[in-house]
Amino acid sequence: MRSLKLIFVLLIAALSTASGIILNNRIINGDCALQGQFPYVVSITENDRHFCGGFIYNSRWVVTAASCVEGKLGINASLNVVVGQLNAVILDEFEQKMAVDTIILYPQYDSAIKLNDIALIRVTAEIQFDYVNVDFILYEEVNYRNYSLVMGWGAFFEGGVESVNLRYGAVTSILMDASTKCGSFPITEFNYTTTICAGATITSPYPAASPCQYDEGSPLVQDFVDPDTLKAIPVAVGIFSKNKMCTYTSIDGVGIYTRLSAYDSWLLYTAGLYTLNNRIIQGGLATQGQFPYVASVTENGRHFCGGFIYSSRYVVTAASCVEGKPINVLNVVVGQLSTITPDVNEQTMVVYTVTVHPEYDNTTKMNDIALIRLTAEIQFDYVNVDFILYQEANIKNSLVMGWGATFEGGYESVNLRFGAVLPQALNVSQKCGSFPDIEFNLTTTICAGPTITSPYPGGSPCQYDEGSPLVQDFEDPNTLQGIPVAVGIFSKNKMCTYGADGVGIYTRLSTFDSWLRNTAGQQPVHPASAKEYLRILTPAVNKLRS
Ligand SMILES: *[C@@H]1O[C@H](CO)[C@@H](O)[C@H](O)[C@H]1NC(C)=O
Ligand SMILES: *[C@@H]1O[C@H](CO)[C@@H](O)[C@H](O)[C@H]1NC(C)=O
Ligand SMILES: *[C@@H]1O[C@H](CO)[C@@H](O)[C@H](O)[C@H]1NC(C)=O
Ligand SMILES: *[C@@H]1O[C@H](CO)[C@@H](O)[C@H](O)[C@H]1NC(C)=O
Ligand SMILES: *[C@@H]1O[C@H](CO)[C@@H](O)[C@H](O)[C@H]1NC(C)=O
Ligand SMILES: *[C@@H]1O[C@H](CO)[C@@H](O)[C@H](O)[C@H]1NC(C)=O
Repeated sequence: MRSLKLIFVLLIAALSTASGIILNNRIINGDCALQGQFPYVVSITENDRHFCGGFIYNSRWVVTAASCVEGKLGINASLNVVVGQLNAVILDEFEQKMAVDTIILYPQYDSAIKLNDIALIRVTAEIQFDYVNVDFILYEEVNYRNYSLVMGWGAFFEGGVESVNLRYGAVTSILMDASTKCGSFPITEFNYTTTICAGATITSPYPAASPCQYDEGSPLVQDFVDPDTLKAIPVAVGIFSKNKMCTYTSIDGVGIYTRLSAYDSWLLYTAGLYTLNNRIIQGGLATQGQFPYVASVTENGRHFCGGFIYSSRYVVTAASCVEGKPINVLNVVVGQLSTITPDVNEQTMVVYTVTVHPEYDNTTKMNDIALIRLTAEIQFDYVNVDFILYQEANIKNSLVMGWGATFEGGYESVNLRFGAVLPQALNVSQKCGSFPDIEFNLTTTICAGPTITSPYPGGSPCQYDEGSPLVQDFEDPNTLQGIPVAVGIFSKNKMCTYGADGVGIYTRLSTFDSWLRNTAGQQPVHPASAKEYLRILTPAVNKLRS
């Protein structure tokens, strides 16, 4: 089979060399990949012949399109996943051929219109990473500001056979809303929430391309650029699902990609955490009304820190977020879920004053708390936009949420995300993660690290999560009902990771009780259930404040 395939492909290679890049509507452009350029891409083979792409999610799981593996569940012995491969006919140095253990289609996959076109493949052994030629890749929300690459061993013209060499090319995500069409697809086949529409681009340094037959399942990848180091980190944003034809010059080449961020919790609960190394924050996407008190602090319209609503006029954030910043570049956005689409309940507030705690130390980040006073009243509906009371921290699972990066050095996130952490370092003789003693004070800060003992995915806050609240459920001992209360503000961690460096330091709100009340006044009473709140919280709060 392999030699037969070689002949086919040599023929095509000769043809394409002779004619160069033919610009007509059947050719996929692009270029050959180099060793280590796409260490996360896999080839899915049936009887040793490539038929679909995929990407490495962690050492046991590979993500592909449901349309690739639908109907192959019963004959999986003939299926393999090949990682570390460049050339499909010769054995590459880093190639590992993995046997398939389980195939799981997304339960709502619709094979007629190819929506929810995503599947997970579990391999029977651990993929061996060298992190250069074989690596996993994180996934993220798509960034409409930049181009993406798509790569695979697909055909390079409509109706061709699979390619010997791994090829890639650039496409750009076409920003659309639910009412716009994607290329020549009928409206029923494109869902803005669950898919990405992308076509060939010429605004990238890479050759424009269109994926083709046997590229289904291949990842759509973007570079996330760390604004400080300017280092780019590739992240997967989609999976190639379908296009009408392999062309990059006509509307029929516009492709539909499964939007990975829409399958965040399914991926997490089916395939577990990402491979644990020191680059990751886990967590999940927030739903409407889940965290009505969280605020995004923006600088020139761009999210850079979190905060929480203290009252209709005040928002609490970290001092490190706002110290030295001119007020006129700052705004506070409340009632927001997505930073790119205007949410129904979103209100953008103008900043009147910023008060940094007088004892804030910008070297050790001690007393890292600030109050932002707004020029107008936040309008509460108490469901999507609400304030939150604060309390002394308990030793129990807590949530932290924000629009921070989802990995060390990443950009801010489009969607509000959250994750669970657990307070640790509970007595003065214990250290907090890898922080020196001078940077952790048990009286004024809380030390908390990722947890797996919560019903929520464990998480680690990351860049641009500073100022976000640490929230616990205060349980009514009578009704056992939980009321969320803020107990801290994320101040710092060493890295966004699950390891010791991911342990974070949070400003302990209860310590700053009198400063908060003297500066911003009392918190309001919750009218929707004022009696409930008072009955449950007053004794605890009074005890705390006496
Ligand atoms: C894969 O094949 C094995 C036998 O080769 C079978 O026991 C197993 O159920 C198959 N898995 C799936 C998900 O179909
Ligand atoms: C798009 O997909 C989402 C999630 O599956 C679904 O809730 C929504 O109804 C879909 N929209 C359309 C127009 O089908
Ligand atoms: C797009 O990606 C390129 C390459 O990584 C990078 O240099 C550029 O800054 C990015 N542009 C934006 C707007 O993110
Ligand atoms: C840090 O604090 C010092 C001393 O209080 C101050 O002079 C300096 O401006 C502060 N740095 C920033 C970035 O605000
Ligand atoms: C503090 O915690 C350490 C480690 O758990 C423990 O060995 C020590 O006895 C504790 N000290 C006090 C004063 O509770
Ligand atoms: C911790 O902070 C409190 C309050 O600011 C202070 O009184 C105490 O001396 C600090 N502890 C250490 C070890 O620095």
